[in-house]
Amino acid sequence: MATINDNYLKLKAGYLFPEIARRVNAFVEANSDAPIIKLGIGDVTEPLPEACRDAMIQAVQDMGDRGSFKGYGPEQGYDWLRGKIAQQDFQSRGCDIDASEIFISDGSKCDCGNILDIFGDNNSIAVTDPVYPVYVDTNVMAGHTGTVKENGEYDGLVYLPINAENNFTARIPNEKVDLIYLCFPNNPTGAVATKEHLQAWVNYARAHGSIILFDAAYEAFITDPTIPHSIYEIEGARECAIEFRSFSKNAGFTGTRCALTVVPKSLKGKAAGGSDVELHSLWNRRQSTKFNGVSYIVQRGAEAVYSAEGQAQTKALVAFYMENARIIREQLTAAGISVYGGINAPYVWVKTPDGLSSWDFFDKLLHTCNVVGTPGSGFGAAGEGYFRISAFNSRENVVEAMKRITGKF
Ligand code: MLT
Repeated sequence: MATINDNYLKLKAGYLFPEIARRVNAFVEANSDAPIIKLGIGDVTEPLPEACRDAMIQAVQDMGDRGSFKGYGPEQGYDWLRGKIAQQDFQSRGCDIDASEIFISDGSKCDCGNILDIFGDNNSIAVTDPVYPVYVDTNVMAGHTGTVKENGEYDGLVYLPINAENNFTARIPNEKVDLIYLCFPNNPTGAVATKEHLQAWVNYARAHGSIILFDAAYEAFITDPTIPHSIYEIEGARECAIEFRSFSKNAGFTGTRCALTVVPKSLKGKAAGGSDVELHSLWNRRQSTKFNGVSYIVQRGAEAVYSAEGQAQTKALVAFYMENARIIREQLTAAGISVYGGINAPYVWVKTPDGLSSWDFFDKLLHTCNVVGTPGSGFGAAGEGYFRISAFNSRENVVEAMKRITGKF
């Protein structure tokens, strides 16, 4: 019989969001008329911007004409999209990023996991706690960890606790780590990092030959002009960081699928024989072999984000969700509940009231308010006692959910 990748057996029961869906479905089966409002998974609810839709409709027409039909596209993405991203997302902020260093993909979640293909198996790996579970689970699958401990931590990973005392920004480790996952604006806590904090990480990484895997999927939600949107705004980051970005949240592409990963050509890792190797060429090789690119139609939709109309429409979309975040913050605060985040990020990180555990609060909200959120402990041991509320929903649902919650607590 064929053998399996035993590392999968080390994984905790299920991926967090399917586990939540399972519990909600069981509740709905028993309570079919419950008016459930889902503020759990960070999935967008508002329609795609008109500029993106128009561009995709035009792209469908292109596919219907022999002259403009497209077969396989470049695995790295079309130059017209990469060029606009380089110019408008990076160069306009003073980041020295060239279009050829941008790889278009079908999602940041996929890229965060796939990037491990180009790294060795013996790296020491640091994650924050709480953390977006994909960083941890993909390392478990790749065999980079030991087994899970009672408190949910995996042997072999370096956990950097983030909490209210350190403003949800991790301390720079005392020990040497090779790969460091950072996510700003942070999922799940909604925290952001100052330029000084990121500079400290870049300095650490350069001093130790480490690579920072920087997840900037929520950068569009930054409202404070002093907060960096990209790790490449930090001096020296080209030598030590890979950045992941997404069209999912700013342009509503969670179902449409388009993202990008930046791998600077100056970034190097060590081969077993001791030589320095360009990570850009390894990622290019990996993508060319295992990926056939994002569809022409979707890339045209993503390109439209950079038009004047697309910029105005995506800004309005982001502002819409951030108004939801403001309502969530204000209502919960007025009800005497401590909240964090939600100012530069679409997530509000809530201290569970009455000392409830994260899952007990989840159950209580589900059963008494018919509102779904995400238990903080699902993001790691240090998330226990916290709860994440997503601002991605209609205004009506957010207002109604807050009315229900504040009436009960
Ligand atoms: C979340 O809820 O944390 C997000 O949906 C994660 C993701 O985008 O994969």
